[in-house]
Amino acid sequence: MSSFYVTTPIYYVNDVPHLGHAYTSIVADALARYHRTLGESVWFLTGTDEHGQKIEEAAQQRRLRPLELADRVVARFRETWASLEISHDDFIRTTEERHERVVLDLWRRMHERGDLSLGEYEDWYCVGCEAFYTEGQLVDGRCPVHEKTVTRVKEASYFFALSRYQQPLLRYYEEHPEFILPENRRNEVVSFVRSGLRDLSVSRTTFRWGIPVPGDPAHVIYVWIDALANYVSALGGPDGDLYRRFWPANVHLIGKDILRFHAVYWPAMLMSAGLPLPQRIFAHGWWNVSGKKISKSLPATRVSPTAIAEEVSSDALRYFLLREVPLGQDGDFSYEGLIARINADLANDLGNLVNRSLAMVAEYVGGVVPETNEAGALESVARDVAARAGRAWRDLAPHRALEATFELVRATNKYIVENEPWVLHKDPARHGRLRCVLYDVLEAIRWIAEMIDPAMPSAARKLRLALGIGADVAPRWPDSWGTLASGLETVRIAPLFPRIDRDRQLELLTKWLPPESAQAATHPVPSEAATGAPAAGTPVTIDEFRRLDLRVAQVLAAEPVPGTDRLLKLTVDIGSESREVVAGIATRYRPQDLVGKRVVFLANLKPTKIRGVRSEGMILAAGDPEVLALTGLDGDVPPGTKIR
Ligand code: MSP
Repeated sequence: MSSFYVTTPIYYVNDVPHLGHAYTSIVADALARYHRTLGESVWFLTGTDEHGQKIEEAAQQRRLRPLELADRVVARFRETWASLEISHDDFIRTTEERHERVVLDLWRRMHERGDLSLGEYEDWYCVGCEAFYTEGQLVDGRCPVHEKTVTRVKEASYFFALSRYQQPLLRYYEEHPEFILPENRRNEVVSFVRSGLRDLSVSRTTFRWGIPVPGDPAHVIYVWIDALANYVSALGGPDGDLYRRFWPANVHLIGKDILRFHAVYWPAMLMSAGLPLPQRIFAHGWWNVSGKKISKSLPATRVSPTAIAEEVSSDALRYFLLREVPLGQDGDFSYEGLIARINADLANDLGNLVNRSLAMVAEYVGGVVPETNEAGALESVARDVAARAGRAWRDLAPHRALEATFELVRATNKYIVENEPWVLHKDPARHGRLRCVLYDVLEAIRWIAEMIDPAMPSAARKLRLALGIGADVAPRWPDSWGTLASGLETVRIAPLFPRIDRDRQLELLTKWLPPESAQAATHPVPSEAATGAPAAGTPVTIDEFRRLDLRVAQVLAAEPVPGTDRLLKLTVDIGSESREVVAGIATRYRPQDLVGKRVVFLANLKPTKIRGVRSEGMILAAGDPEVLALTGLDGDVPPGTKIR
């Protein structure tokens, strides 16, 4: 049986899990689940990186021992992974004895090879990166990654003879063109190695939190050497049973920030220790939040994956992250984007397909998978989709896999519309045809359930339950049409992905965003601007209505608000003056189409800031981001004209 070993980086324990960490783990989990659907023997490893100066300092600041800090943060990681259905087979902690033993073994192997020697080191050190920089690599005297101050370190240090591996590494990259992916990242690594490798300082003496160097306990082993070893220590080291089954790893999935450690240091260490190299290192891109890098000092970027999962399900978050951005590219996360994706793909397309199909099966054929002998209308599209989606998963392209999968969702919806089961039902002579149509629909849903399992395991389970197969049956990538057994009793399930309407959207944004941005986010929503006002439908007096300063406004200029895909900044002439206003209409209107338009404008809305842009009023529109129209005027009325 073929095997598949996939790993995530091990996460530092100085920070609680955020969206960026969740992304790596979700992608790795989806790959693991896909390979499980093929019946392969899969091993999926994650864990935590607990040694080093950064953790020692983080613990000191909190007046904890490093291990106490680690224990607390590890608990948070475990909870988060459980809530996101991360199905790792093992969770390695670098403070575990089983890990330390293997680090020492690797150190000894590298030492025996003659690749470790004592010397003296002097350079700039960034604790955030846990890495040295030369003067020339600094930007304005600061770390090029964290833009933080670096410290001058001069100390005795063991060196790893990395320079010896320049040629072997280049040869290996050459002979294994898919070792580092995506290709642009590979090219970066190749040119870095071509430009020459310096020997690497691999021990420190100025702090204690790490694994002591064998035979020279004044030194602790450099945290990256320690950390990278996790990929084999978790398999029991070179003598372990799991190592025999799963090493070399099929994929080390990492973020692009830590590529050099994985694509240069790690293979060189393995060559030195005489061990085989992993098959593939895939560097994914970076998620920003509304255009900004996730950072502790910017609360609005601290997107909590569990808070999202609690409200809209972990499946929806997983789907969004996997579908929205091709693996390898950077992405910009916005709650609006998340909600739009959920509504379009999950509520409209998939949710409706399942709801209407199960309802028809219940009503027309007694809630049982019908007997039929002429099914198969959707077979060829299903086969084509499954082949392309499977290839995309194997090529590490989850967004393409899901895009293909949803072609079957849409094809099935179309098939229902074209075949009109509700018409067939009315004519007893056509009940044979009705059974056939419904069978095909249910079988297509079964294929969909199997194919969404890597991305949305919980929805896949519910679908298997709904089809009467049973939630606990292991998912299998589909390959034979017509195996859904007739006679199974279908089960009506709660809507899989309820549509998020405007009220719910406001409620969610208020929960998810830090207080000051939540207020802003609710503002550009045209119909619910008056948050806290009585519910729509409550009678108002004419005096209450007159308090609204509604006027005709003409758009003078329009431009997108950076970092959002929904907001435009408009300058409007309101007769007495010009105003700037932020409007959530970018899903339907391009800036250039708005200039010159006359719209209805609320001039006495309290000014506010939205995404850092001052907004003084509100443009009235009908609908929501999917169905949206600006209110127009039936006649040539000059800007400033009062509306009553
Ligand atoms: N401990 C090291 C890895 C050692 S592996 C032998 C480390 N840890 S980390 O916690 O800082 O980051 C781990 C990973 O989280 C990054 O490589 C990246 O995969 C992911 N991300 C953290 N922030 C991210 C984003 N904003 N966006 C996407 N992923 C990012 O580095």
